[in-house]
Amino acid sequence: MTLFEPDPTSLEELNAKGAELGSFVSGGVRAVFGEGPLHAPIAFVGEQPGDREDLVGRPFVGPAGQLLDRALAEAGIDRSVCYLTNAVKHFKFVPRGRIRLHQSPLASEVKHYRWWLESELRIVAPGLVAALGATALLALTGRAGGVAKLRGPQTFDERLGYVTTHPSAILRASEQRRQLDYQAFVADMRAIRQRAG
Ligand code: URA
Repeated sequence: MTLFEPDPTSLEELNAKGAELGSFVSGGVRAVFGEGPLHAPIAFVGEQPGDREDLVGRPFVGPAGQLLDRALAEAGIDRSVCYLTNAVKHFKFVPRGRIRLHQSPLASEVKHYRWWLESELRIVAPGLVAALGATALLALTGRAGGVAKLRGPQTFDERLGYVTTHPSAILRASEQRRQLDYQAFVADMRAIRQRAG
């Protein structure tokens, strides 16, 4: 899938073109770009930037990002060599008083942003793509749901892949579940590290 002919050949060009199109979801006006080096061993794909990411302009810097950072560190993965991005590039929210309440993107909205994700993965050419949660899985495969069923090693368009949960799902889990879910997430990070070689 491509929106521009010829396809952008650098992240700078791609992101400038994507940002020019504006937000396709209600809420954030700023596009939060992926970050990390070309040919990163691992690319992590999340859902969309959250409140903090929208303010700071970087992916995974809020509470979910902090949990991801902790799991990466426990699994011996250096975040700075990874590429981090999102399926949807704008923060979708509704205002509730002073709070900006996160809204899950619709399948049509995820589909709208797919060209951007596909182009950036083509340019970054990571060793492995890790889908964090259902929205990333939808963006990478076109399949809705199935994180529990597909959790583990996968391939996405002949690319080495891995499916795991989204760190926000762990933060939302009951106190009883949270520790177990977190340990399973760390185990996935270790498996991702191994699979990425
Ligand atoms: N959740 C995501 O999916 N991505 C972010 O960048 C932050 C939170």
